[in-house]
Amino acid sequence: MHRPILLIVEDEAATREGLLEALEDRFDCYSAADLSGAREVLSTERVDVLLTDLRLGAENGMDLLKDFENKPHAPVSVVMTAYGSVETAVAAVKAGAFHFVTKPLNIDEVELILLRAYKTRNLEQKNEELEVEVKTLKKGGRPPKSKLDLIIGSSPKMQKMKQVIRQVAPTKATVLIEGESGTGKELVAGALHDLSGREKFVVVNCAALPSQLLESELFGHEKGAFTDAKSQRVGRFEEASGGTLFLDEIGEIDLAMQVKLLRALSERAIQRVGSNKTIEVDTRVVAATNKSLSNLVEDGEFREDLYFRLNVVKISPPPVRERAGDLPLLINALLKKVVHDNELGAKKLSAEALSVLEEQEWPGNVRQLAAVLENAAIMSLTEVIQVDDLPAELIKRKRASLSSGLRDNLDPSVRFLLSEIEMETIQAALEHTNNNKSEAADLLGLSRRTLQRKLQGEEL
Ligand SMILES: Nc1ncnc2c1ncn2[C@@H]1O[C@H](COP(=O)(O)OP(=O)(O)OP(=O)(O)O)[C@@H](O)[C@H]1O
Ligand SMILES: [Mg+2]
Repeated sequence: MHRPILLIVEDEAATREGLLEALEDRFDCYSAADLSGAREVLSTERVDVLLTDLRLGAENGMDLLKDFENKPHAPVSVVMTAYGSVETAVAAVKAGAFHFVTKPLNIDEVELILLRAYKTRNLEQKNEELEVEVKTLKKGGRPPKSKLDLIIGSSPKMQKMKQVIRQVAPTKATVLIEGESGTGKELVAGALHDLSGREKFVVVNCAALPSQLLESELFGHEKGAFTDAKSQRVGRFEEASGGTLFLDEIGEIDLAMQVKLLRALSERAIQRVGSNKTIEVDTRVVAATNKSLSNLVEDGEFREDLYFRLNVVKISPPPVRERAGDLPLLINALLKKVVHDNELGAKKLSAEALSVLEEQEWPGNVRQLAAVLENAAIMSLTEVIQVDDLPAELIKRKRASLSSGLRDNLDPSVRFLLSEIEMETIQAALEHTNNNKSEAADLLGLSRRTLQRKLQGEEL
C-alpha cells in the first residue's frame, strides 16, 4: 500500500508548519493556507485525507467539503475547530466530515483520527466494490469480466497474444508493448494490470512532458528542488508502488531520462528530485511504444541496456491487416459500441459498405476503424449504413483499385467505351464546377494531376 496522501489546510502559518512536521512521518503531506491553494492541490493530486480548519480568514473550510458532494473518490475529511465551537464541528460532521478535532490540538490525537479516517474510508470502498460483485452474482450474472475481454479479436495472432497476457500478468516481469498506432496497446496494458491482482494502475504519457517535468512527474521532488517546486510531491513511481506503472510512448524519452529510468528499474528504488534519500518501490512497469525500440537502439537514440531491462517480455499487438478473419468481428462489435455510446437506433452495414470496409488496409488500425464506423453511424439517415455514408477517401480508394484491376483485362472496345463514359463524367464535373479543375478533381475523387492527364487524353 502507498503512504496516505494528506492535505493540511490551515491559515495560521505556525500551526500549519507544526502539523506538517508532526505528520510527515506517517503521511505524504501537502499544505495550503486558503481555499484556492487547497483546490489547486486537490485538482492535481489524489489526496486521501483532508485536514482543514473551518475558519480560514474570511473563508470557510466547509466549502471544500461541499466541493466533494457526490464525487466518487473524494478524500475523507477531518475538520479543526476552535475550542468552544463544537456546534459548528457537529454541523461539519453532519455535512460529511469524518470527524473533528478541537484546538488547541493534541497532535497524537490528530494523527490517530487521521489514520482511522483513512482506514475506514478504504474499508468502505472495498465494501462497496464487494457489494457490487455480490449483486451481480446474485442476479445470476457472470462474475465481473476482466479487461482482457475488452480486447476484441479471435484470429490466431490475437488468441496467442491474449494467452501471453494471461500468463505474464500475475508475474512481476517488465513488459514492453510494441505495436503500430491504434492497435490497442493501452488496452493490453490495462488487461495486464487487471489480471495482475496488483493495486493501482498509474499511467504516464512520456511524450506529453518535457524532460525536466517528466523527471519530477516520475520520481517526485522535494519542496524547493527547483523554482516551481512550492511543495513536496510524490512521483508516479512511488504512487504506483504495489501497483502497475504504465509508461506510454516510452520511445520519446531523451537519453538523460533513460539513464534515470534504468537506475530506477535496476535498483527498484527511486530518489525524489532534490533529495538523496533512497525510497524503495515495488512498482511493476509496463511500457508501450509505436516505434521499434530496437531500431532506435541501432540509431543510437535509445540505450541498449534500458531496452533489455524493459523488454523482458514483449507483446506485439498485430496491425489490423495481419488479423485475418478478425475484421467482421471487429466491425460488428465496434458498430454496436458506437451506436450505444451515441445513443443511436440500431444500425447495420449494407453488403457493399461492408465489403468496402473489408478491403481497406487500415493504417490507423482499430482506432481508425472505430472512427470511420462512428462517423458512418451518425451520418446515415436510415438503419442501414450505405457506401455513401462512408468517408469519401475510403470509397475512392476502393474504386481506384477496382478500376485499375479491371482495365488490365478488358477488351479494347470495352476499354474505349469506358473512356467515353469517363470523359463524359469529367465533362459533367467540369460543368458543375464552372471549369474549376481542382474542384472537379475533388468531386471525382482524382488528384488534379490525374485529371489533367486524363484531359490530355493519356490513359491511366
Ligand atoms: N483489439 C481491440 N478491441 C477493441 N478495441 C480496440 C482494440 N484495439 C484497439 N481498440 C480501440 O482502439 C482505440 C485505440 O486503441 P489504443 O489507444 O489502445 O491504441 P494504441 O496502440 O495505444 O495507439 P497509439 O500508439 O496511437 O497510442 C481505443 O479506443 C481502443 O479501445
Ligand atoms: Mg496509446
